[in-house]
Amino acid sequence: MAKRKFKKHVTCIGAGYVGGPTMAVIAAKCPDVKVTVVDINAARIAAWESDNLPIYEPGLLDIVKKARGINLFFSTDVDAAIRSADILFVSVNTPTKTFGEGAGKAADLQFWEKTARNIVKASESDKIIVEKSTLPVRTAHAMERILNANKKGIHFEVASNPEFLAEGSAIRDLLAPDRVLIGTQETKQGLAARKELVDLYAHWVNRANIITSNVWSAELSKLAANAFLAQRISSINSISALCEKTEADVAEVGYAIGKDSRIGAKFLQSSVGFGGSCFKKDILNLVYLCENYGLSDVAHYWEYVIRMNEYQVTRFVRNMISAMFNTIARKRIAIFGFAFKANTGDTRESPAIYVTRKLLEEHAHVVITDPKALANAKIDLAECKGEIEYENDPYVAAKGAHAIAVCTEWEEYKRLDYTRILKSMEQPAFIFDGRNLLDHRKLFDMGFNVFPVGKRSLTHY
Ligand code: NAD
Ligand code: UGA
Repeated sequence: MAKRKFKKHVTCIGAGYVGGPTMAVIAAKCPDVKVTVVDINAARIAAWESDNLPIYEPGLLDIVKKARGINLFFSTDVDAAIRSADILFVSVNTPTKTFGEGAGKAADLQFWEKTARNIVKASESDKIIVEKSTLPVRTAHAMERILNANKKGIHFEVASNPEFLAEGSAIRDLLAPDRVLIGTQETKQGLAARKELVDLYAHWVNRANIITSNVWSAELSKLAANAFLAQRISSINSISALCEKTEADVAEVGYAIGKDSRIGAKFLQSSVGFGGSCFKKDILNLVYLCENYGLSDVAHYWEYVIRMNEYQVTRFVRNMISAMFNTIARKRIAIFGFAFKANTGDTRESPAIYVTRKLLEEHAHVVITDPKALANAKIDLAECKGEIEYENDPYVAAKGAHAIAVCTEWEEYKRLDYTRILKSMEQPAFIFDGRNLLDHRKLFDMGFNVFPVGKRSLTHY
């Protein structure tokens, strides 16, 4: 047997947006722990082993470089990494089901179940299995049944440790989390697993911020946290529609209500709508669960958070069309930002996808620019028919355009020379600021017609 120079061996199955950064931080903060991240996607693993990481996340490369080859390893040998693990995190994708029972709402657990069966096949010793993926409440129950049906006499203890990081700030969130949540069974073995996980995180997280609970509470807390966050955005976006009718200003309203400490200031930024791989998927999952338990009023309540988000992005495009004299056919429109938020190249469920599709349906000529997300944008729009261009340089994207639509709040868009941009555009020139990012008064004074979200539009006609 190989000499163990590490106190613990941690393996993570799934080297994605969560598995990669989370494990890099665990490795950097726990030098006595060997961390191996595995994935069936060989190209992804190769990228994790290079300096051209598969995801863009500020500060990630530094952390990876600090630990890679010392106590952080990436591999496609899933079975070997399962065998050597004491603690096994599972961070595979759990998308919305697209077929069969629960299609369009329920979580598709096929990747999870495949992983569980793989764990049974490859394991030779007892292990703690940690749900890192976001899962329907009570998944751990099903997992324990699959895992502990093994004929090898191996015991698997399933714990839930949902991840709360947000993309674009993942490293900051992981280094200084608001809380770490660890859910386990309250049996002897469950409490032992709880202690192991608490000790792991206590390498760098204050114990007061490490919360423990039963497994079901941990699983449900993750879905509930995302639902509450998305609900805040839908709430402020619903108010933005009323602001546009009444000359109230959504930023002023958001500021005023956010000053109430019971409400709080965060997540009240009105926008073209929320995107990202999880809010919609996790709320749909919650809705499906409620329906399954016969709680249809609860299901409707949460479903409306998504409906409001769809309304917001639809409203944004409708406002564009109506402002541009009800026709945008053949008009060049520059989309500033395609990522679902700033500081990431991720475009999953990005509102920009919907905006682009709608503009193409109207036969507009769409030019997309984004500092990090053009490669993903090309994949997202591969099936779309119509005139689409992808352009790194926002000045070139805007040249000859009738309008700019800001869909991602990249800081660099604030620093552009808009006088130069205005001169290069068709007149009258329009800016639709889906992120309320720019200085609207200044742009108007320059000569732009400006359409923010939830604020009075500033027009020269
Ligand atoms: P992702 O798609 O980026 O990564 C998942 C990885 O798992 C992929 O690389 C895939 O190849 C791999 N995989 C799938 N099946 C596998 C198998 N059988 N063996 C080995 N590897 C396998 O997904 P993600 O964004 O990292 O999300 C993972 C989970 O974390 C989801 O449940 C998500 O809801 C949750 N989550 C995501 C975020 C986020 O910001 N993206 C934040 C919190 C929680
Ligand atoms: C979100 C949660 O914030 C994380 O806690 C959670 O772990 C994660 O989902 C997940 O489970 O995947 P993320 O989607 O990466 O993180 O990013 P957010 O900062 O939450 O932004 C989501 C979307 O809401 C973005 O499109 C963003 O632009 C939008 N948003 C956010 C607003 O429109 N207004 C706001 O005030 C805040």
